[in-house]
Amino acid sequence: MNINANDRSEEPHMAPDPLRINADRLWRSLMELSAVGGLPNGGVCRLALSDSDKAGRDLFIRWCEGIGLHTRIDSVGNLFARRAGGDSQRAPVVTGSHLDTQPNGGRFDGAYGVMAGLEVMRTLREADIQTRAPLEVAVWTNEEGTRFAPSMMGSMVFAGLLPQQAVLQTADATGITVGAELQRLGYASGAAPGHPIDAYFEAHIEQGPVLEARGCSVGVVIGGQGQCWYDAELRGFAVHAGTTPISVRRDALVGAAAIVTGVREIGTRFGGYATVGHLVVEPNSRNVIPDGVRLTIEIRHPDDSARRSMDRAVRDLVRECARAEKLECDLARVLDQPATPFDATCVGIVRAAAAADGFPHMDIVSGAAHDAIAIARVAPTAMIFVPCKDGVSHNERESATPENLAAGCQVLLRSMLARANAAS
Ligand code: GLV
Ligand code: MN
Ligand code: MN
Repeated sequence: MNINANDRSEEPHMAPDPLRINADRLWRSLMELSAVGGLPNGGVCRLALSDSDKAGRDLFIRWCEGIGLHTRIDSVGNLFARRAGGDSQRAPVVTGSHLDTQPNGGRFDGAYGVMAGLEVMRTLREADIQTRAPLEVAVWTNEEGTRFAPSMMGSMVFAGLLPQQAVLQTADATGITVGAELQRLGYASGAAPGHPIDAYFEAHIEQGPVLEARGCSVGVVIGGQGQCWYDAELRGFAVHAGTTPISVRRDALVGAAAIVTGVREIGTRFGGYATVGHLVVEPNSRNVIPDGVRLTIEIRHPDDSARRSMDRAVRDLVRECARAEKLECDLARVLDQPATPFDATCVGIVRAAAAADGFPHMDIVSGAAHDAIAIARVAPTAMIFVPCKDGVSHNERESATPENLAAGCQVLLRSMLARANAAS
């Protein structure tokens, strides 16, 4: 699959609308939320289903209930805050994102989409506006995939792309399961995931450098690139580092090192990205030949046939590196996500909303994964990007301006209103 620029011939025109989101309130909520799991260098650590993830969710629920939204959770901990519409028979127009972060996460990845959704709800309440269709803000469980693989876990179950039972039994590196953590945190429920959604709009920082370089405050996201994730395990033989001749060594870390550099070369060769981001070395002692390495490999490309070629090249590489060092090797694919074009109508709504408020904007393909990419499989979907400083994300230094965050939120408000008030 390829992601192409959408047909623009049928694009809606939006008249000026005096309704404005409150940029200060959006910024203050983001800053208050960033203190939950806050790190010394200004970043955030709220690993999925950790105590700080629960604290972030609890805060969000308090804010939602404070403005009369009805909240509920499904069996994998996805959280929905609903504002009633004039027509209760209509499926909701949904926005949202995730509250979990990377271990060295920033203040905006995920949190922005949730706070932007909350700000839309607050703005509508203040203006006493009821939409025809109901509106919802979703907090999807474990988007990052750091503690529990794969990423986009909650939204993938919602979209029927992952089985709920397997997800509940998925364990972290210490053996604790998703299901056990949901119980412990009070976020378990029997409600089956997957209610009907009329349309889904997600606001997010770009996490790359393009919008900033082009001077755009809004990115109209036309789709997301595909990706594969692997877990690999290499097994060699642990033996004395000062006495064992090279010719008889079976050094799992030497094999892993060749995989790390080879994987990157494959990404470059095919015009995509391929990365080893996580290594566990055993026994991890300076004078013992490593006998075990577990590592992760991820592959991303906007064109699925190129991604499949990368995938084959990576599997050949892993086999070859293991053979060269006489290692045993297991390779398991834990995520296979195709490139996802977004819905032309929803993309057109976002583009028209950005134009109506005069925000400099451009079409863009998402390099990062998002819950929207899973939800796009079951509902018309689009995303709104805003720039982040120097394109830095998954880093405590992640930064975005209040003005750009407000612009994206304003576009979200208009997009949700346009969709929710359209004739059914
Ligand atoms: C999510 O942040 C991803 O792109 O991996
Ligand atoms: Mn994110
Ligand atoms: Mn992320």
